[in-house]
Amino acid sequence: MNNKEPILITGANGEVGHGLIPKLSELGNYDIVSLDIRELDEELKPHIHETIVADILDSTVVKNLLKEHAITTIFHLAAILSTGGEKDPFRAHQVNVNGTTSLLESSYQVALSEKRTIKFIFPSTIAVYGIPDLETKKKVGTVKEDGFNAPITMYGINKLYCERVGTYYSKFYKILETRPEVLPIDFRCVRFPGIISAMTVPSGGTSDYAPEMIHSAARGEGYESFVRSDTVIPFMVMPDAVKALLTLTNAPKEKLTQGIYNVSGFSATAEQIAGLVNQVFPDSSISYNPDQNRQKIVDSWPAAVDDSAAKRDWGWKPDYDILKAFNEYLIPEIQDRYKNNQINPTG
Ligand code: SER
Repeated sequence: MNNKEPILITGANGEVGHGLIPKLSELGNYDIVSLDIRELDEELKPHIHETIVADILDSTVVKNLLKEHAITTIFHLAAILSTGGEKDPFRAHQVNVNGTTSLLESSYQVALSEKRTIKFIFPSTIAVYGIPDLETKKKVGTVKEDGFNAPITMYGINKLYCERVGTYYSKFYKILETRPEVLPIDFRCVRFPGIISAMTVPSGGTSDYAPEMIHSAARGEGYESFVRSDTVIPFMVMPDAVKALLTLTNAPKEKLTQGIYNVSGFSATAEQIAGLVNQVFPDSSISYNPDQNRQKIVDSWPAAVDDSAAKRDWGWKPDYDILKAFNEYLIPEIQDRYKNNQINPTG
């Protein structure tokens, strides 16, 4: 008999999907159903039980697959990031908000009718913060979950709203009616910092200067950064992002005192990252030519986030500080993958 847990990953072909899917497959306990509007990369296919190419907004497809596979957990990764979202804000809203609410509603209805709970894991972002100016950013330093929730990008606004809608579906849905005996949605959310992966070059994000710098150097190319050298935000490497998703998913519900948790690996300036890149690739020439508008977005994000609630409630602990991230993950993996032509752009 197959005792594997059936899970759904939306936006499976994106950056986080490329980190999460191989890890889940390695753990061996899951039947992964993938949903993405694009064809899934060949390298991911061997890990997948069923690949579905469809629009997240197609609720007929979504409801059918939730029922047919008896999905117990959803990793809802599908999103248009902060830079991509500013190119077509209306489309970003459709994907990020309508895609999420539609998936929550379908999940709620299916779980309610089958008297069971679906865990809904939602990656949110530092883009939900909007600090008014650099002086304030310097002054406040580390920011807690409920500080400066005044995003300036469509993506940040969408994610902040969906954090609340997810909380609504898990706690307050149809508050005027009697609660179902089994609560249909168990919504859990991590707010990610900028993510750096050795496996993929992201696209459409505004924290992308860090991974772009590293990947360009490994390809033997120079890099012109679109942010100032003193720009600082929190980051984490992909293995820690996957660890955060899985640890939160598996945390006992009674330990969770909140639905939304900051997580962080390390904070770094663009210059610090460039310095580490230069140590390994001394020929890489990194220069700075800030794009005023993208700079404004990154400057509105905090220099560091307070992830003490995640540490306290579900034992969050990143495995990688900045040096370990470079020495034991990014540099060896990236060098290896470029040697074997295995890097894919995502986004
Ligand atoms: N990486 C994201 C972005 O830059 C932030 O969550 O949009």
